[in-house]
Amino acid sequence: MITYDEAKNLLSGCGQEHILRYYDELSDEERKSLLAQIEGIDFSILDALEKDRENVLKRGKIEPIEAVTISDIKENSDEYRRIGLDAVSSGKVAAVLLAGGQGTRLGFDKPKGMYNVGVTHELYIFECLFNNLKKAVEEAGKWIHLCIMTSEKNSDDTVSFLREKGFFGYNSEYVHFFVQDMAPSVDYSGRILMESRSRISSSPNGNGGWFSSLVRSGLMDELKSCKVEWLNVFGVDNVLVKIADPLFVGAVVKSGAQSGSKVVAKSAPEERVGVLCLEDGVPSIVEYYEMTEDMIDQRTETGELAYNYGVILNYLFSISKLEEINKQKLQVHIVEKKIPYMDENGGYVKPEEPNGYKFELLILDMIHMHDSCLPYEVIRDREFAPIKNPDGVDSVVSARKLLEENGVEL
Ligand code: UTP
Repeated sequence: MITYDEAKNLLSGCGQEHILRYYDELSDEERKSLLAQIEGIDFSILDALEKDRENVLKRGKIEPIEAVTISDIKENSDEYRRIGLDAVSSGKVAAVLLAGGQGTRLGFDKPKGMYNVGVTHELYIFECLFNNLKKAVEEAGKWIHLCIMTSEKNSDDTVSFLREKGFFGYNSEYVHFFVQDMAPSVDYSGRILMESRSRISSSPNGNGGWFSSLVRSGLMDELKSCKVEWLNVFGVDNVLVKIADPLFVGAVVKSGAQSGSKVVAKSAPEERVGVLCLEDGVPSIVEYYEMTEDMIDQRTETGELAYNYGVILNYLFSISKLEEINKQKLQVHIVEKKIPYMDENGGYVKPEEPNGYKFELLILDMIHMHDSCLPYEVIRDREFAPIKNPDGVDSVVSARKLLEENGVEL
């Protein structure tokens, strides 16, 4: 672990020495904890505050992208399945579950994957994901490595829950955990906020932090030594997610693209979903709030929406390209938030109004760092049942209905 002197040097390099202000007064336990937090933080993220934010967010020329549609897939399914199964059963595909988020919208005080969506019996979100992955394992006749990203905030709970549940029957030798980096929260002047004398105010650094955290954990080297070439990355929310889907893998491999993204046709032009498109000739994801009226309504010659393909956080990435991308910096998103903090007198303050910034890296920005990404259309009601809220849109209620429609007993 980092020493006190190293931490001091690191912090004075970025003008944040105040973090160690109470160090001498802390217990041994608290000192250790504070040093561990300092070590787990990516301080370079603070540079984003100095950059011209407008410039960072400037977009290039946006155009629609062509997708492999459901009917294309039907036509080519034998070939896609053959190529995909070959890749999965020869161990070239591993899965990465992004489960480091805080799931605030759901309002559940445990990791989201521990949520029980069952009605007459227990059925946890994690269990749904393992069940889905087992289908790919059965089809390929080969265990698939699954790397689960947690955060400092939910790691212990996640690991002990899954151990206690015996990984829902999955082969534990193929389940690996890694912890994502944290990003500090700052006040408007860029000074890192403290929650207490020994706790830095910080949050997971966004789902875009996954690859650098995977590399730092050493797991990437392990995967490479097992001859893994592709990573299928997905989120914890979608209980209908198809993982290591041979057809998807086959389509991407056959196309020669550097990456692939599962997409669904929008349910309505205004649907609040990130849309896969081309930006300056290379793939990119435009958020719904960045779409102009013209883009929202633009139609193709056949009358379909020109910007029709919403992303569902299910990507296939080639490791070699990811390693190249990892040498570049991902865009840092700065978000204004209400951040509880310790004031000058040591009192804990819960602000009523936003008082600072949090920083986030987003996986969707990685798409624009690729020269090619195959949009692969899936049937929404078969593969997309996200749980973001307790009820309403993208909720426990809507996901239960979709699970039942897909034959899952609740
Ligand atoms: P969301 O964008 O839904 O964020 O994450 P969230 O933090 O989980 O939920 P809210 O917004 O507070 O309600 C999409 C996916 O990215 C993962 C989440 O676990 C989920 O699978 N994620 C998000 C991370 O792994 N790390 C993060 O820092 C953020």
